[in-house]
Amino acid sequence: MIILGIETSCDETALSLLDASGTLEAPKFKVISTALYSQVKIHEKYGGVFPMLAKREHQKNLVPLFLKLIKDSGLKLGKRADTKSEDIEKILEKEPELLVDFLKDIVKMEKPAIDAIAVTTGPGLEPALWVGVNFARALSELWDIPAVATNHMEGHLASVLLNRSDNSNLKSKISKVEFPVLGLLISGGHTELVRAENWGEYKVLGATRDDAIGEAFDKVARILGLPYPGGPEISRLAEEFRLDARRSTLDAVHLPRPMLHSDNYDFSFAGLKTAVLYLVKKLTHAEESHSLIRTNESMKGLSESEKKEIACEFENAVTEVLIEKTRKALEEFGAKTLIIAGGVVSNKHIRESFEKMIAADFPDTTLLMPEKELSTDNAVMIAAAGYLNILLKSPPRELKANGNWSIEK
Ligand code: KG4
Ligand code: ZN
Repeated sequence: MIILGIETSCDETALSLLDASGTLEAPKFKVISTALYSQVKIHEKYGGVFPMLAKREHQKNLVPLFLKLIKDSGLKLGKRADTKSEDIEKILEKEPELLVDFLKDIVKMEKPAIDAIAVTTGPGLEPALWVGVNFARALSELWDIPAVATNHMEGHLASVLLNRSDNSNLKSKISKVEFPVLGLLISGGHTELVRAENWGEYKVLGATRDDAIGEAFDKVARILGLPYPGGPEISRLAEEFRLDARRSTLDAVHLPRPMLHSDNYDFSFAGLKTAVLYLVKKLTHAEESHSLIRTNESMKGLSESEKKEIACEFENAVTEVLIEKTRKALEEFGAKTLIIAGGVVSNKHIRESFEKMIAADFPDTTLLMPEKELSTDNAVMIAAAGYLNILLKSPPRELKANGNWSIEK
């Protein structure tokens, strides 16, 4: 079946067309086309995502992206729908810009051969989510296609189903996931350890009590004067520090490993961010009195080498916490598969640290992480999770944005 995926939970407007077949045990996916617009540049000056701005951008981008998606797909086009302008107007009354484009370009379009729509309804920023949700409702109404409410975090978990097998460069992908699964979800909005007995059956073992890990990367990057999103920037500096043979210019920066030994699966990253802030304050203040000694370093703020060392120590600290909490969960519950997913799994050091840990200590557990382009937010993973829910015959959920929708329910 052909599934249209729609993702607008944060600052990426993303659409996908996925050809899905196979069973729950062995689903098969072929990506037909994708269209994604990242709002990163727009939110950069705010140092984070500004919800009402994200809503406006999603409204502006959805129809042009949809037209491109259909054009690139080569999907068969059928008959035009009987115009349902009034119904569409009602559905999109809170998205006036989207409504104008929809009436102009989509209502008159010939119906593409789409069998179902999977749309992210949560968790995420509600104003942003609503745009995707109402777009899905309008398409569903116009072309009489069922629409499935999809959980963004379940989407991240399902992203590993799109991995290419190593010995094939085929575009179609088959991936088997053996349960029970332990899921480590690390993104800009979430940090969770989840146990799954099957697709759709999740239990959250622990979560962050304050900032999400990606949020911590972004905030620390801001403290270090690096652009948004901070994850890739910190990662780049940390990598440079590791490769630099000369190493430390500071007297061994040490940051805390919050909740490393706590007797639960929760995380906390706010204190770590504050520790970085204090450290930077101390260093930049100290720098004024020692500026004569550091003639080749930046006189203002931190030097490049200080930034690199702090980035590296921060990355080491969060990685150690993730590794130890996951190790504890694997020891306590056991799992045939460990899935690590969410934007932060793009981080090279985190990926490599987990690969080493699993190979050394849990050789019977399969480690699955999404390919780089499906690590951060995208609509392919949403279409894949939608397909799983169609196979599961999950009871239909109302198509309604729910910013706090937990993967558990
Ligand atoms: O999953 P995602 O795209 O969006 C949410 O659902 O939140 O994750 C975005 C987060 C951002 O905080 C970004 O800084 C982080 O993922 N990120 C990284 C890296 N690439 C993206 N964090 C660490 N290292 C990276 N290489
Ligand atoms: Zn995400």
